[in-house]
Amino acid sequence: MLSAETLLQEIEQEIKAFRFPENPHALYEPIEYSMSLGGKRIRPIMCLAACSLFTDDYKKALPAAMAIEMFHNFTLLHDDVMDNANLRRNQPTVHAKYGQNTAILSGDQMLIEAYKLLAQTDSPMFSLVMDTFNKTATEVCEGQQYDMDFEKRTDVAIDEYLEMIRLKTAVLLAGATKIGALIGGGSHKEVQAIYDFSIGIGLAFQLQDDLLDTFGDEKTFGKEIGGDIMENKKTYLLISALQNADTEQRGELIKWLSKDRDMVIREEKVAAVRAIFETTGARQATVNKMEELHANAISTLREMDISAQGKRFFLNFADTLLKRKR
Ligand code: IPE
Ligand code: IPE
Ligand code: MG
Ligand code: MG
Ligand code: MG
Repeated sequence: MLSAETLLQEIEQEIKAFRFPENPHALYEPIEYSMSLGGKRIRPIMCLAACSLFTDDYKKALPAAMAIEMFHNFTLLHDDVMDNANLRRNQPTVHAKYGQNTAILSGDQMLIEAYKLLAQTDSPMFSLVMDTFNKTATEVCEGQQYDMDFEKRTDVAIDEYLEMIRLKTAVLLAGATKIGALIGGGSHKEVQAIYDFSIGIGLAFQLQDDLLDTFGDEKTFGKEIGGDIMENKKTYLLISALQNADTEQRGELIKWLSKDRDMVIREEKVAAVRAIFETTGARQATVNKMEELHANAISTLREMDISAQGKRFFLNFADTLLKRKR
């Protein structure tokens, strides 16, 4: 079994070699900008690793892995517009640097590039790979819509939140491993098992993202701290805080939620809401839930009929994600 480091290098090399047309420069340059800023590349790594569980010829999954990374970066261009986010990977987001229209159109082109990459997949499972990609892409949009719908609500239940993050985040990690496993020739049972495992890991991953967005270190995380609080995002933190708050804490939270973003001083709102997340025990509740989701995913992995090395790879990988600071 290969190391995550080797797979990462493989993907970085592939991204470096990727050439876009020269013109129109204003369309393609932001795509190169977005793709070259070096995210963690967890989805393509998971795709290649899942493929290598079933075949030594894991490079068969490279075009699909690249398609998934391209799709992921596309979602970020639009997500940063939707979330009013100005910083990503410690650099200005595409809409902050080039304007909103560019984020829309370069993002659109990235979605097309993703499909062009996916179409290069040479596999008897191509049709199923395509179905999986399409279903995943639709689900991400559905999740993103719920994420925005929830900004305006204060009665979002934990189950609704979990379904929202399953759609906006977990299915792309799970789609990545499912597509890798399909190309590798995994059995129906194993493909389903690696998908289920990745959903669990993806849910835990989003809880960690929510935690870092509020409690992380900006330099390390690479995104502006407090963005979720400013956008009234219904994170696990906020939902638990609303559930656990006493009358006074609840009143204060609702007061902050009811103010428009330009009616508040960012530092004040973020500090006040962050303090309520601590005093209501919402921070600890989020950590506990994240660990529970992680542990459940690991049980699914342990039951899989794959090599010990394969299990160790995904065990270590999941562990790194749980402990990540960026
Ligand atoms: C960001 O994903 C979007 C979420 C689902 C939280 P990543 O944290 O994988 O972003 P990069 O690609 O590593 O920057
Ligand atoms: C991630 O949601 C989901 C998608 C981008 C599809 P977030 O909005 O939490 O992601 P970040 O924190 O901006 O990376
Ligand atoms: Mg965002
Ligand atoms: Mg978002
Ligand atoms: Mg986030």
